[in-house]
Amino acid sequence: MTAECLVCKTPVEPFLDFGQMPSANAYLTADEFANEYSFNLAVGFCEECLMVQLIDTNSATNMFHQDYAFYSSTSKHMQQHFADFAKTIQRDYLTDKDSFVVEIGSNDGIMLKNFAIEGISHLGVEPSHNVAQVAIAQNMDVLVDFFYQATAEKIIAERGKADVICAANVIGHISDIHSVLSGVSCLLKPKGVFIFEHPYLIDNLTKTAYDQIYDEHIFYYSVHSVKNLFKVHGLELIDLSHQNVHGGSMRYVLAHEGELTATETVMQQLSFEVEVGIDQLKTYQQFAQNVARSKQELLNLVRELKSQGKRIVGYGATAKSSTVINYCGLTPDDIDYIVDNTPAKQNKYTPGAHIPIKAPEEFYADYPDYAILFAWNHANEIMAKEQEFVQNDGQWISFVPQVKICLENICLV
Ligand code: SAH
Ligand code: TMP
Ligand code: ZN
Repeated sequence: MTAECLVCKTPVEPFLDFGQMPSANAYLTADEFANEYSFNLAVGFCEECLMVQLIDTNSATNMFHQDYAFYSSTSKHMQQHFADFAKTIQRDYLTDKDSFVVEIGSNDGIMLKNFAIEGISHLGVEPSHNVAQVAIAQNMDVLVDFFYQATAEKIIAERGKADVICAANVIGHISDIHSVLSGVSCLLKPKGVFIFEHPYLIDNLTKTAYDQIYDEHIFYYSVHSVKNLFKVHGLELIDLSHQNVHGGSMRYVLAHEGELTATETVMQQLSFEVEVGIDQLKTYQQFAQNVARSKQELLNLVRELKSQGKRIVGYGATAKSSTVINYCGLTPDDIDYIVDNTPAKQNKYTPGAHIPIKAPEEFYADYPDYAILFAWNHANEIMAKEQEFVQNDGQWISFVPQVKICLENICLV
């Protein structure tokens, strides 16, 4: 299957095809199994604008709606990350007492609340009603809508232009990216900045983190593809910094072309990306081979443990786990259940494989022999609080960056 690049319309071929996959955050009840949505999950590399992207996409309204399953504040580590992020934005860019900040994809207010507490004029734009409502209930200003060009015009008419627009883990989720960025460009004051974070493509590649590939993740950004994409909208990359969240993310700072001075870091990272072959198709073909090997290793390990009669559960019903479970063909015979602290996911089933999701109490009541750490990006937080599992001879299994049983309480990344 060939597609048109969503950025520059050049034909793009998949370098990795997972076959038919469900929507990753669509946890379901047993009566919904028969009508489950699926699509062809495949990813390609545009040799023209260097954007790595999905070949086929799910629709925005199918993914983001009144029952969106992901609540950002389920991780304490992420709460701290966003408190620090907001503080940095305030210190560097919200220096005027009348400053106005807009956040795209504000979810349950994990970032926004830090501005609200400081009395900073703010607006979140969040289409998923249930998560937006959590922030609204705490008196944050949230527009329950998708952010596109028309939304930006509406905000300008009602509130004026923004000093800062920020976004985390959402700028890769929107297929009509040009409408979003033309909206950002017109909503931003002349000296304003757009700051966004997203899992970094090089981390995905080097850690063989293929589980980052699922329907919500339409674009997989590198500094190169960000630079090329934003240039179309008169926005220039002026700074970046690597972040130790979601398995390795990049924070990008953009400004209207010629308005602010770019740091050395941008050029340095562009050179580094060329060194590691970010602009070469063969880099992605090698990744696809690593993914196939990782699948085989995980399957071998699970089959071996099951043949010894071991009990295995999953930890963290992450969207990411949908790709691993369904691509590897793991079933409820392999994984008894997945433990997750999100009430909206508990007592439902995972998409595709239909593995039951249970509250942590189930895990505490009768520890299994092994737990596959599907929320590997939260390893430190989870392992710190689940020490009793290890004291009861439980062992963690990780698959990023390598498939392995963790002999120590520390796995990885
Ligand atoms: N920023 C949060 C949430 C990331 S999940 C965090 O980093 O934890 C992505 C969020 O973006 C979801 O809450 C989803 O509803 C929202 N979203 C999806 N498309 C959007 C759009 N076009 N405009 C604004 N928000 C969007
Ligand atoms: P994420 O990797 O997309 O952030 O999703 C993390 C999932 O793991 C989310 O469903 C919440 C869950 N989780 C737990 O169950 N316990 C925890 O301690 C943490 C940090 C997350
Ligand atoms: Zn392209």
